[in-house]
Amino acid sequence: MCGIVGYIGNQKAAPILLAGLTKLEYRGYDSAGIAVMENGEIKVQKDKGRVSNLYDIKEIDDLKGTIGIAHTRWATHGVPSKVNSHPHMDCKDEFAVVHNGIIENYIELKKELENEGYNFKSETDTEVIPNLINYYYSKDNNNDELRIVRAVKLATERLIGSFAIEVLSKENPDIMVVVRKDSPLVIGKGVKENYIASDIPAILSYTKDFYLLENFEFAMLSRNSIRFFDKDLKEFKKKANTITWNAMDADKNGYDDYMLKEIHEQPTAIRETIGTRVNKGICKFDELGFTKEYLSSLNQIYLIACGTAMHAGLAVKSTIERMSKVHVEVDIASEFRYRDPLVNEKTLCIFITQSGETADTIAALKLCKEKNAKTIAVTNVIGSSITREADFAIYTHAGPEIAVASTKAYTSQITLLVLLSIYFAQVLESVDKNELQQIIKEMLDLPNKVEKILKNTKKLKEIAKMMFKEKDVFYMGRGIDYATAQEASLKLKEISYIHSESYAAGELKHGTIALIEKGVNVIGIITDDNLVKKTVSNIEEIITRGAITTMIINEEIAKTLNTQIFTNVITVPATNQYLSSIVTVVPLQLLAYYIAKEKGLDVDKPRNLAKSVTVE
Ligand code: G6P
Repeated sequence: MCGIVGYIGNQKAAPILLAGLTKLEYRGYDSAGIAVMENGEIKVQKDKGRVSNLYDIKEIDDLKGTIGIAHTRWATHGVPSKVNSHPHMDCKDEFAVVHNGIIENYIELKKELENEGYNFKSETDTEVIPNLINYYYSKDNNNDELRIVRAVKLATERLIGSFAIEVLSKENPDIMVVVRKDSPLVIGKGVKENYIASDIPAILSYTKDFYLLENFEFAMLSRNSIRFFDKDLKEFKKKANTITWNAMDADKNGYDDYMLKEIHEQPTAIRETIGTRVNKGICKFDELGFTKEYLSSLNQIYLIACGTAMHAGLAVKSTIERMSKVHVEVDIASEFRYRDPLVNEKTLCIFITQSGETADTIAALKLCKEKNAKTIAVTNVIGSSITREADFAIYTHAGPEIAVASTKAYTSQITLLVLLSIYFAQVLESVDKNELQQIIKEMLDLPNKVEKILKNTKKLKEIAKMMFKEKDVFYMGRGIDYATAQEASLKLKEISYIHSESYAAGELKHGTIALIEKGVNVIGIITDDNLVKKTVSNIEEIITRGAITTMIINEEIAKTLNTQIFTNVITVPATNQYLSSIVTVVPLQLLAYYIAKEKGLDVDKPRNLAKSVTVE
């Protein structure tokens, strides 16, 4: 789980590489390094710590080379240290490699290479790659222009695992070779210069024309050309994709942090996600082409994901069930894939993943395909790994999400999945048309409601000031509000490091209430008319035991309650129950954010976490 960048052109490579790495730090930030080709020599500078440390290395500032590769690391094999940082060179200093992924058979390969006289400096799996390339390069007697690509091909064929790699070769100082398998890599096409990165935002300020490499496709880049080769090294032409995101989308745009910017981008993200799917009051998912016959034949729908994306699944489970009349199960991808799930051709499996790169989610999808289920990927990243594996890919239009803690992806995922469930109901004719129209109408008004919440942050900031020294915070709700409580609790713990738990309000009496005593902070959510009385009675039980209560309640329900009994009340606009997570999670995202800021923490890059978990 790392980020890689490459540049080949006529400008100084180092500043471009460092800027790209800074944008990729969400993929890992325990060490970083660059290698630049200069006067026929490969010069490597790397160290433990964040990318910003590299800016202080004078030798990097002095590098004039115009070709280079770079890496920001999240350690998997070997502790974060200078020697384990990338780029790695072979023991004869001929090739430099940066690698994102994991090589599972590196121990065997290392032994084999050691028997051939190669030696190793680091504890990493990656170091076998430049040495293998050296091995195959030296065995090749045909010194033509493709010798380096052949060596990379033979080396990568030996690797078991996942990789996106960039290779510099001392003997071939004007080219760079790249290849990927199950790890992301994009090539940006410029004028007399070309760029490489793990994702598009890292190089979006230089170009909008991108090539997406498929598994085991090789690219040989020079300043003026990009040549593509398939797995048998047969050359082929590839069409570039033009991206409509603008570079501002991937910058902070005046906000202190990406997370705050992304929270504020939610009205736009929701609006754009709806915009692509709703036409004249009808939800369109034409590419799926599902028939009434197919949808009625389903015995089960699975929503499979990790982290916040899994919480989006929880928030729409009952909606999809109600609309499709099919049993819906939400599963954690890392659990699902190892429990021999009951999946067959009558199962529809929907995978939710912002990045489209989460290893467990992709593995779960492959398993479902083996069992003949239809698969849909719900993702935010065009061309991401999951989109190439799934039968169908449908996209949220949240724009790049950079902060590790997911916000706008979550609300966009719920938006898209509610739209998908309406599409199911349209095809199945299972829900009254007027009701569907009413939900769509409510959806179109959602961005305005979220905007209203975003303008009202004074009270949340005050609550954050009172809460930031807490050791434990509890969240509770019923139905969809319980799903939101789970996401809100995750937000708090991941960025503020405060221990927090979420509970279904009705479960309180079965254990959790033992933890409630004077001064304990409990956050309650109430948006469901049918469950108000029950939840309020649970909250009263904890008030009696001295809890400090912060309630998120919709405006209509608030009018019917004696809100004086609660310590703090935040009201949100009322909306259709299926959409309520979207309006209630926003103040809770903000609360977590303000608490983390009060604690002086780096909200965009919480400790021990990475944005894309591309390893198990
Ligand atoms: C990591 C991120 C979370 C994210 C989860 C799933 O844990 O820190 O924010 O929800 O991965 O990521 P995905 O890209 O599959 O949605």
